[in-house]
Amino acid sequence: MRKASPVRYDATRHSWDVFCYDEVLAVLKDHDTFSSVRPKLGPRLLGSVIGEDPPKHQQLRNIVSRAFTPKTVADLEPRIKAIITDLIDQAIEEHGHFDFVAKIAVPLPVIVIAELLGVPIDDRPLFKHWSDVIAKGATENSMSGLATLMSEKTQAKEELDSYFLHILNERRVDPKEDLISHLVQAEVNGEHLRDEDLLEFCILLLAAGNETTTNLLTNTVRRYCEDPSLQVYLREHLEAIDVATEESLRFYSPIQATNRYATKDVQLGGHIIHEGDQVVVWIGSANRDEQQFVAADTFVMDRHPNKHIAFGHGIHFCLGAPLARLEAHVALPAILERMYAMHFEMDGTLQPIPSSLVYGTSQMEI
Ligand code: HEM
Repeated sequence: MRKASPVRYDATRHSWDVFCYDEVLAVLKDHDTFSSVRPKLGPRLLGSVIGEDPPKHQQLRNIVSRAFTPKTVADLEPRIKAIITDLIDQAIEEHGHFDFVAKIAVPLPVIVIAELLGVPIDDRPLFKHWSDVIAKGATENSMSGLATLMSEKTQAKEELDSYFLHILNERRVDPKEDLISHLVQAEVNGEHLRDEDLLEFCILLLAAGNETTTNLLTNTVRRYCEDPSLQVYLREHLEAIDVATEESLRFYSPIQATNRYATKDVQLGGHIIHEGDQVVVWIGSANRDEQQFVAADTFVMDRHPNKHIAFGHGIHFCLGAPLARLEAHVALPAILERMYAMHFEMDGTLQPIPSSLVYGTSQMEI
């Protein structure tokens, strides 16, 4: 697509696709022309900062970014270490071989985000279910498939709303040292956030922070298994792991695409995109653009420079990037040191998660 039609209109989805790095960056940089506010097409499932434009975007981002200061994130390191150690102990002792996704890659980010938000860890299976439903991509072309997906998502959103509303009310009465208490007390222009904004925040953090980090860990360990020499090298050079993780973010980008909506007629890649049109920017494709990356389809473990845009670009650049990087920074050395000679333990090929927006596998026996 990058060569044949770097920018194209897909009539079946009534949407533009943008595939090349420069054009993707141009869209993400120009938030005046390419808005993140979804026109009123139905219930908004992932709202909050990610679905707002300035000035509201900046106000909301300021509040939540206080929870993600370098210090707050760095303070989580010992806790992340303890969690990953426990998860590896359980995985190895119980089985010897196991599903990496279920045993490690799913629970680690869920526990971390649950602790950060201040919600009971025992509710983990509920979070996993809700964030899976919300993250499911609209890959269906048929209206009936799309309708089923939308009703599933609406139900998950209602369940999440009532779950978090209960916790918000508890924290108003009895604040604790957690992110939800912080959000409840936060003010924008002298006013507390409305319940609707608070709920959107909580749900965004849950959905944005879980599946993405799960896939970063799974995709990276998949790469270790595909290329055993990588494991051998990184085990002997633990200091090289973070750079290789950045290459994993480029090579197997956990988020493949994000949406924008044109606020006026605009020219892009030789086409006129009309006001109101949906524009899908393909991050995964931009990260494999041969014009930007030498040997783009090769995993170069020490690639430098590596200007991947796996965490997005511009005003919506991922707020959780330092946290996701820290989880990988702590978990991957522990995994390499404790799990020797990892290899796939399965007959068939890996089953991709059925979504056009997230990239990972739903199971990975190793
Ligand atoms: C935004 C990717 C982990 C919270 C984004 C965006 C991308 C992204 C591509 C930009 C979306 C857009 O421009 O429309 C990822 C990846 C992750 C990850 C690949 C893991 C490997 C996390 C974590 C959290 C988080 C752990 C929080 C706990 C957010 C938030 C935004 C965001 C709040 C919206 C920022 C804004 O609109 O200003 N992420 N993310 N993400 N991410 Fe992440």
